[in-house]
Amino acid sequence: MAKTIALVTGGNSGIGFELVSQLLSKGTYHVFMGSRSLSKGNAALQQLQSQDVPGTVEVLELDMTKDSTIDAAVKTISEAHGHLDILVNNAAIVSTAPSLREQLQEEFDTNATGPAVLTNAFIPLLRKSVLSPRIINISSGAGSINRRLNPTSPLFKFPGVNYRASKTALNMITACAWAEYGPEVKVFAYDPGFTQSGLSGMNTKENGARSVGESVGPLVDVVEGKRDGEVGRFLHNTGEYPW
Ligand SMILES: NC(=O)c1ccc[n+]([C@@H]2O[C@H](COP(=O)([O-])OP(=O)(O)OC[C@H]3O[C@@H](n4cnc5c(N)ncnc54)[C@H](OP(=O)(O)O)[C@@H]3O)[C@@H](O)[C@H]2O)c1
Repeated sequence: MAKTIALVTGGNSGIGFELVSQLLSKGTYHVFMGSRSLSKGNAALQQLQSQDVPGTVEVLELDMTKDSTIDAAVKTISEAHGHLDILVNNAAIVSTAPSLREQLQEEFDTNATGPAVLTNAFIPLLRKSVLSPRIINISSGAGSINRRLNPTSPLFKFPGVNYRASKTALNMITACAWAEYGPEVKVFAYDPGFTQSGLSGMNTKENGARSVGESVGPLVDVVEGKRDGEVGRFLHNTGEYPW
């Protein structure tokens, strides 16, 4: 049986790496692990190979802020497979730039503009999928305008306009993609929840962040179509967030 072809951006660490690993453990996927640094990507690949997972994986140099790497990624997957089944826009940053302007520019470029440009570039290959092609944009509950304005929300007081606004933009990009490409291509926004990762100094077990394994299990359900009844919406592990 032909394998499902998946691309996970920022697949070399954190939630992206765990997603690649969990998909590979199923044995039915060929995963392109996007990595902006080939050396980090190759180190992650070695780690996966040492786990002896049954699926197949290759590293793809992919920087969400560089169109040349996006174009090259489309060419590589097109020539090798002629289609793409699953696109997970996972890569993101919390900028440590000194000024708010730079933080906003860096985070919008990586967290919102990059996924929009990448999606646009891959739509022709997604449309050639004979499965049920899907795009999953890894957002954050911090991007919900409704939660920002709700005094009872746990995120009411969380600051970070730069990160929040970049994820709100990603949510609109998700809505636009669903309106434009659905229902042929299914599109979701997904919040993995507060998770231990390299995203920021806050993402630690001591601060209450959960393990990547716990966060990625429910995300795999979205990849595998188990939450298709909620397509076009903003999902988290057990339900939905308001936009
Ligand atoms: N962790 C949480 O609590 C949490 C909560 C809600 C949402 N999220 C979202 O979950 C996703 C994964 O984050 P994470 O927590 O796993 O953080 P992470 O460990 O920092 O992983 C982020 C990944 O994105 C990559 N990346 C950054 N800039 C990139 C660029 N320009 N081009 C390509 N790749 C780039 C990083 O590559 P390098 O290794 O080269 O830096 C890394 O592989 C993000 O979208 C994040 O916003 C996380």
